Amino acid sequence: MDFQRNQFYHIISYGCQANVSDSEHYAGQLEALGYHHTEDLDMADVILVNTCCVRETAEDKTLGKIGEFKHLKTKNPDLIIAITGCMAQEWQDKLFKRAPHIDLVIGTHNIHKLIELIEKRNSKKDHYMEADMSLPAFHDMPVKRFQNFFAWIPIMNGCNKFCTYCIVPYVRGREVSRPIEAIVEEIKKVAAEGYKEITLLGQNVNSYGLDLKDGTDFSKLVQAVDDIDGIERVRYMTSHPKDMTFAMIDAIADSKKIVNHMHLPIQCGSDELLKKMNRGYTTEHYLELVDYARKRMPDLVLTTDIIVGFPGETEAMFQDTLNLLKRVQYDMAYTFIYSPRTGTPAATMDGQIPQEEKSRRLQRLMDVQNVYSLQKNKEMENQVYDVIVEGPTKNDAHHWFGRTTGNKMIIWENDGTVAIGDTVPVAVDKGQTWVLKGHLVH
Ligand code: 5AD
Ligand code: SF4
Repeated sequence: MDFQRNQFYHIISYGCQANVSDSEHYAGQLEALGYHHTEDLDMADVILVNTCCVRETAEDKTLGKIGEFKHLKTKNPDLIIAITGCMAQEWQDKLFKRAPHIDLVIGTHNIHKLIELIEKRNSKKDHYMEADMSLPAFHDMPVKRFQNFFAWIPIMNGCNKFCTYCIVPYVRGREVSRPIEAIVEEIKKVAAEGYKEITLLGQNVNSYGLDLKDGTDFSKLVQAVDDIDGIERVRYMTSHPKDMTFAMIDAIADSKKIVNHMHLPIQCGSDELLKKMNRGYTTEHYLELVDYARKRMPDLVLTTDIIVGFPGETEAMFQDTLNLLKRVQYDMAYTFIYSPRTGTPAATMDGQIPQEEKSRRLQRLMDVQNVYSLQKNKEMENQVYDVIVEGPTKNDAHHWFGRTTGNKMIIWENDGTVAIGDTVPVAVDKGQTWVLKGHLVH
């Protein structure tokens, strides 16, 4: 290996925020080894792909990407290609067979092994894999955060819910919570480093702490993080309607720093289908939670996840979902076509829906939701919101953007008076379906 020049790494992260957080811990380890970040794949000595397997489309995208790296490996045989994350956990050494140019496969409980594996691979060219799920989910690791003002804070890993469509419990294991003290300590540290906004991350934050069996729960965590100086906004995701309690809604509403945004996935509006999904709640209970949350927080921004085309979904059940959207009027819904995942109960259920019908339902669902997304954003017109400045938009350096506490993105024309990370008032001029346009208030 050539020690004369700098060594570079490039990380591609697919999937959810838990993966972004894991990627930051991979980056931390690579920097501890002396690697520097590069955007340029041709310069990279290590390419790490942190994968998702929640839907088949995510896997297809990853396999396509891995295929693209073959020519880089031909050009540079010392290049290390590492596949990590949920798909690595699921596929394990089958990935080497599928793409022999992969060097390392690292599972979801083995993130801390990266340094060791890179060192092994640098001393002897071979395939190396660590995917032992019996190891603890959390380890002390260096972290290189990707943003300067927003920090991801994992509070738990894994999931015990076993929704019948979902592969997460199989690839991330059972729920394991971090102790409150460790979470508070990390948040204090990032506050001292200048971070203003944090997101408490877990597959099901409402069951946070229950495995610790010492009375810890999400309400206690909310109270504990509320007093940390320097942090302006605390986000949390994802919530589960079965484990969200009225007491937790109270704790969220009473907190000074927890934001007025709740992501509460319903998945579908049919009680019969919710049962088949093993979601553990009825639409009636869900609506009680929503009504209570809106009573306690009148400015609540509510978002959700919906799956269309779950096995056995009839037209009438799909209509129930459309009716639920009309009843709740979400600010936004993340909508997904059901994707059978091998090993999950739903994959072998009767009544699989043809792809074309699933696509049609998705379109019909989006047509209904877009009306409400637009309506909610229009209601924000001519009002002023505090946003934390995130910087220029992707396509146009003259337009900058930031987010409200409710996680709404506002774009304005940059006049050079604000800096990334500033909290500034922005007036909304125009609400559109996906975004708000506005101007800085001076
Ligand atoms: N097919 C489609 N969507 C899925 N999700 C989880 N598993 C599947 C699947 N097999 C969706 C759920 C979840 C979100 C993160 O992904 O809506 O809330
Ligand atoms: Fe994808 Fe789920 Fe893994 Fe996140 S936890 S990366 S959504 S499979």
